Amino acid sequence: MMKLYLIDWLSLSLKLLHVIAGIAWIGASFYFNWLENKLNRVKNRDEIAGHLWAVHGGGFYYLEKYKKYPQALPEPLHWFKWEAYVTWISGILLLSVIYYFNASTYLLASDSSISSSYGILSSLLGMLIFWLIYDLLCKSQLVNKSSIFIGILFVVISLSAYLYSHLFNPRAVYMQIGAMIGTVMVANVFFVIIPVQKKLVAACENSTEVSKELGLMGYTRSRHNNYFTLPVLFMMISGHYPTIYSGDYGWLVLIAIVGILVMIRHYFNLRGVGKEKNSLIVLILLTIFALIYALAPIQNKSEYQEKVTISEVKAIVDTHCVGCHSKNPTDEVFVVAPAGFMLNTEEQIIASKTQIYQQAVLTNIMPLGNKTNMTEAERDKLRVWVEAE
Ligand code: HEC
Repeated sequence: MMKLYLIDWLSLSLKLLHVIAGIAWIGASFYFNWLENKLNRVKNRDEIAGHLWAVHGGGFYYLEKYKKYPQALPEPLHWFKWEAYVTWISGILLLSVIYYFNASTYLLASDSSISSSYGILSSLLGMLIFWLIYDLLCKSQLVNKSSIFIGILFVVISLSAYLYSHLFNPRAVYMQIGAMIGTVMVANVFFVIIPVQKKLVAACENSTEVSKELGLMGYTRSRHNNYFTLPVLFMMISGHYPTIYSGDYGWLVLIAIVGILVMIRHYFNLRGVGKEKNSLIVLILLTIFALIYALAPIQNKSEYQEKVTISEVKAIVDTHCVGCHSKNPTDEVFVVAPAGFMLNTEEQIIASKTQIYQQAVLTNIMPLGNKTNMTEAERDKLRVWVEAE
């Protein structure tokens, strides 16, 4: 009891740290990407590639970008790396506290054939293997052929989503793919971008030449991270939207949304350098509408013709929900009502009918992992009740 209570605090602290570090990291990354796009390129100055004025927070700022490096190494020189590392470390810890610690409930699919330890292992291996494949691609000639490069990555991500959908529950599949791409982003910072910058600094100190490839290597990885950002952010918040992930083809929806978000990022990057491509907006909108249409709930005709009474509903909820969603839960894992959501009284049930409909009728997310073996007939009764209300 005490242990679970303290874990709740741990989870909350980690999530807050993760979100704060993530905002600092992605914020800086967006800002520098924006700088690159908006820089006034100058031709007539030897050392300077471009400059830019900005006004923010009640003051004017002026900034210059060097073509190579300044004559002497400036002090202090600011680096941007801890934001990325802290995001990843807190993310992995959070993944452990929420998904690994209770793998049979949170990670694995309810009909999964593997044990918790294999589930955790396959989750960690997925992150490692995805990085190895991506890194190999980046080091090959394919990195210069962007459509093939993107194509291969897309296939790898799709295949992973498909395979994990056989092992993990739908929500965990999204988290897993998000963690895999997020890991690649941080590994890019740690293994490539920061080492490239260290070489730049060394070249500046010794006034030696830097090869064009070196700078390009850092730039490419940083650009990839820019495209990965929106899909990762989406997957981190998707857990609150079962409509998206809980259908039979949740993994396919994931791929469609990754596609949409990469296109949106691409549109804004083109726009940033004055090359707006309106056909891309049309494609994005069409894909979004197609997705909304495809995911719309099917209006099943119910077997129950007669009215379902509130006391029948209460009996179902008592059997299948109140073990967890109660002022005093009896479940061995959840000692306080998850999400503060309680269904003890008829009033609470009536007030929560939309949520009940979302989680237990339109989707089968609740009861969690169908721990209480709720039947389709019972879900159907809830449907009739909510739709008649
Ligand atoms: C085994 C425990 C368990 C049972 C049984 C259970 N739930 Fe849940 N429920 C949870 C957990 C855990 C969460 C929080 C999920 C998360 O972290 O996003 C949750 C979240 C919810 C939420 C989302 C609340 C919010 O605002 O985010 C709703 C709605 C819900 N459950 C409804 C139900 C209904 C209806 C039933 C019965 C048909 C039910 N649950 C049975 C564990 C359970």
